[in-house]
Amino acid sequence: MSSNESSHRVLSGMRPTGRLHLGHFHGVVKNWVQLQHEYECFFFVADWHALTTNYEHTQDIEQNTFDMVVDWLAAGVNPGAATLFVQSWLPEHAELHVLLSMITPVSWLERVPSYKDQQARLNDRDLATFGFLGYPLLQSADILMYRAGNVPVGADQVAHVELTREIARRFNHIYGREPGFEEQAIAAIGKMGKKAGRLYKELRRGYVEQGDSEALERARALLGEQANLSIGDRERLFGYLEGSGRIILPEPQALLNDAAKVPGMDGEKMSKSYQNTISLREAADSVDKKIRTMKTDPARARRKDPGNPANCPVFALHEIYSDDKTRAWATEGCISAGIGCIDCKKPLIDAINAEQETMRERAQQFENDPDLVHSILAEGSETARDVARETLEDVRAAIGISHR
Ligand code: TRP
Ligand code: SF4
Repeated sequence: MSSNESSHRVLSGMRPTGRLHLGHFHGVVKNWVQLQHEYECFFFVADWHALTTNYEHTQDIEQNTFDMVVDWLAAGVNPGAATLFVQSWLPEHAELHVLLSMITPVSWLERVPSYKDQQARLNDRDLATFGFLGYPLLQSADILMYRAGNVPVGADQVAHVELTREIARRFNHIYGREPGFEEQAIAAIGKMGKKAGRLYKELRRGYVEQGDSEALERARALLGEQANLSIGDRERLFGYLEGSGRIILPEPQALLNDAAKVPGMDGEKMSKSYQNTISLREAADSVDKKIRTMKTDPARARRKDPGNPANCPVFALHEIYSDDKTRAWATEGCISAGIGCIDCKKPLIDAINAEQETMRERAQQFENDPDLVHSILAEGSETARDVARETLEDVRAAIGISHR
């Protein structure tokens, strides 16, 4: 596949944490729902990744996978639009991981910030394993397997996408060389037609000699438009642009999730480990109770005390759920002590429950019929496998172990 197709592909994964909460929804899944209509999307359950930090406690992984996928579906991820699968159902990921591990310097893995951070933070876990050290590379394999140009991730994962770029570059550099690469590239230019060929050479020179990255982009677009190039020639010419060799594994870029900060009920960031969450598909009366007792601006100890929305986590929810008018009403009522905090919270309870209601409805059919979830994942895994096999064939051939 060409870089053009790759730039149209999105891949992202999530560890099977079980039931998702509003923080996951606004930070990640809502974004997926949008992307699924704009790109060719692959979303998967990263169950092997859960083992990298917690191999001793595996009893919940399958249930957590099910619950999380139901939440994806409830939130509007559509298996007709996006491919949903489970990592461990595709052992192909392990093959790519092992092949990439051969060219990965240990120092690159030790340098990934999460390696030391997590060891410090999760000090009750055994993280002195090979699996934990190699976990960012497993993620690289997940991404490169689908030749995904775009990877939506949180800020904590950007370094992993960066590592993936370096691995792809190194792989292409080592295995993209073929005997007579330059001659073949020049022959391929000849097949483009005179005018396009001349333009390609000009743009390539602009990039190679002057570092003109706009020329690089234009040359790539030009290659994308060439109807009569074979896939091999096209890949060669993509590679020739950067002087290296054939591009077997295109470099992905991170799409930073717009982490709309969802406050927890205690005003800290919403997180399962703080036990301050509202989960997706939570019962309406429980939502009601949690919001009613949610922390507000401490200045409003009594009803007549004025407050400041900037100091209030409830107002952060208004930023997410309310229209301008409601926000203006809450702001004015807060500053003037014209409304009480319970008044202020009411429209939020309604808005959250309305959103949840849709999700509860969508989830119902999957809860009634778990086989339906299974078959969505089985079908997605088949689609993913077709792509994975194609990549692996190219990778094996490039390395020189494709005989069977
Ligand atoms: N490492 C990610 C996390 O812990 C999950 C993940 C695994 C992932 N493979 C991925 C995310 C590939 C994006 C792309 O959250
Ligand atoms: Fe927060 Fe609203 Fe109470 Fe002001 S009135 S402190 S914004 S809940």
